[in-house]
This record gives sequence, C-alpha cells and structure tokens, in this order.
Amino acid sequence: MKHIYQQGTNAAAPVLVLLHGTGGTERDLLPLAGRIDPTASVLSIRGNVLENGLSRYFRRLAEGVFDEEDLVFRTKELHDFLDQAAVDYGFDRENLVAIGYSNGANIAGSLMFHYKDAFRGAILHHPMVPLRSVELPDMTGISCFIGAGRNDQMCPPQETEELQAMLSGAGAAVSVHWENYGHQLTGSEVDAAAAWYAEVICP
Ligand code: MLT
Repeated sequence: MKHIYQQGTNAAAPVLVLLHGTGGTERDLLPLAGRIDPTASVLSIRGNVLENGLSRYFRRLAEGVFDEEDLVFRTKELHDFLDQAAVDYGFDRENLVAIGYSNGANIAGSLMFHYKDAFRGAILHHPMVPLRSVELPDMTGISCFIGAGRNDQMCPPQETEELQAMLSGAGAAVSVHWENYGHQLTGSEVDAAAAWYAEVICP
C-alpha cells in the first residue's frame, strides 16, 4: 500500500498509524501526528480503493452504507500490511496507536473489531460503527479516544454512543469527546486527543 514511514526520536513511543478521510492522501494527517506526539514514529497509509478518483480504505454502496464484503477483505489486507511493515521497518508490532479520521477511523474501528491486537490504542475522529455482524475480541487493555460532533450528519450521536458501548462492552477503556459541530475535525478536538494521549498512552 502507498505509505510514508517517518522514524521518530523516541523508541519507547508507539508508532502512530495515520488513516485519512475519503479523498485524502497519506500526507493529510502528518500535521496531526506532530500535534499528538512529535517524538513518535509515523506510518501513514493511503487507502487503496478509489471512489470517483477519491481514495478510501474500503468500498461503500452509498454514503454511510458499507460494502461489508469489501470492508472485511480490506481490513485483512491492512492488517497484513501492518504486520509486514513492522518487519520491514523494524518497529514493535505490539505498540501501534491508530489515528483515523472519518473513513480512516472506520477502517481503524474495523481492524479493532476483527483483530484482538491490531492496535494498543486508537484516536478515532468521527467514526461510525464499522459493522454489526462480528463478535468483538477481548479488548481489555486497549484504550480508545473518540471525537464526535453533536451535529454530525454522517455519524449521528446515537451511533457514537453505540460504538462506545460496543468497545466498552468488549473491555476497552473508551473516552468520548463531544464537539458542538458536524463531521469536520476541529482544532479543539485535536487538542483533546493530544491531552488524552499524554494522559493515557504516553504519560
Ligand atoms: C465512510 O464511508 O467511511 C463514511 O461514510 C465516512 C466517509 O465518508 O468517509
């Protein structure tokens, strides 16, 4: 998969796995990683599905309606890519934290739904419930920050609460930060994610 890997200065910090929104590229979230942890290594990956020329991580049938077969296939593909990248770049596969926005948050959520140790933590900006047909693994020890908008038309508050309940029910420690905006990612939401990271992931 097309990606950027940047070696960090702190070997103890997790590798930040960046996953962009629909129509983004592997460059989009690099400034975000710098605000969350400028010392961490970064692996930023471009989604390899195209929708009218826009990069995504999996196909959808309509806005908000996912092609579940493709989602499962792409989730495995990305999981395999992460395993191989750990070998190629020599980082600790057990110490990854995802940072995803929108479609990128949805594939990150799907990875966590399918694979027990996909990430040790995740910052999910405006995620949806990726799918409802799988039994979640034991997520004890996994920490998750969710940034959500009370006026998010793409991901209504009930869906955020449903996702929170599913992750918590599987044993993850989930923290939800609410903004009074829509689907956009705001500076104050990033600040909240950075504060969460400093407290929970890298104290
Ligand atoms: C998705 O398809 O993952 C969601 O609708 C969010 C997005 O548009 O990227």
